[in-house]
Amino acid sequence: MTLLSAERICKKFDDQVIFDNVSFTLQGGEQIGLVGKNGSGKTTLFEIMAGRMETDSGVVTASKTCTIDYVEQEKEEYLHLTLFEFVASAREDLLRMRREIARLESELAENPRDDRRVERLGELQNQFEIEGGFSFENEVAAILDGLGFEKERRGDLVRNFSGGEKNRAALARALAGKGNLLLLESLPTISTSNPPPGWRSTCTTPPRAILPYPTTGPS
Ligand SMILES: Nc1ncnc2c1ncn2[C@@H]1O[C@H](COP(=O)(O)OP(=O)(O)OP(=O)(O)O)[C@@H](O)[C@H]1O
Ligand SMILES: [Mg+2]
Repeated sequence: MTLLSAERICKKFDDQVIFDNVSFTLQGGEQIGLVGKNGSGKTTLFEIMAGRMETDSGVVTASKTCTIDYVEQEKEEYLHLTLFEFVASAREDLLRMRREIARLESELAENPRDDRRVERLGELQNQFEIEGGFSFENEVAAILDGLGFEKERRGDLVRNFSGGEKNRAALARALAGKGNLLLLESLPTISTSNPPPGWRSTCTTPPRAILPYPTTGPS
């Protein structure tokens, strides 16, 4: 099944031509290494695929089922989060639902006969369960264990981890997301004998990779 395709894309920065009529297709289950010298346009291509950068011409089409997790190099905005919060932030949808559930519960504690809120709470709890909300924290913990993070470090701030550890944390965050197309800007070192949940053990380690993977776990 085609996840994403690019047709005759062109991209220039001023006079510097980065892409000239580039076309490709990504199928579900494929693992692709993107190799190119510094400044050749790898990050630019990822930004375009992730919908964060416009092309000058050409079309990028993602299928309805395509959800991208993009593991970037270090980002300022995450440094103040704990390791666990950072990885859990992959599912902002669940965190939002959990906050709303907590708010409704405290409002209902004050006024238990508010039928509209009772109904909304029931709907949200149901949706939270369907989306895997109750098992999500265990999943995050299992991914962090699988990537070799000690339990005691889950509450440490991301800013206090080393560069290599931050890369591993970014991978953990991608694995905790529900995407089926994983874009890896930098590849962390992982143990392939004890891979984290969701990791495809056949993965190799080129310097840069576009790595589609199934949401159902290793195959
Ligand atoms: N926003 C921008 N404005 C102007 N030029 C840019 C911009 N982004 C990237 N470039 C230029 O486009 C070229 C490709 O950059 P890009 O970051 O995609 O390369 P890369 O292949 O990812 O390099 P590296 O291996 O160093 O990560 C570089 O020459 C870079 O300076
Ligand atoms: Mg780059």
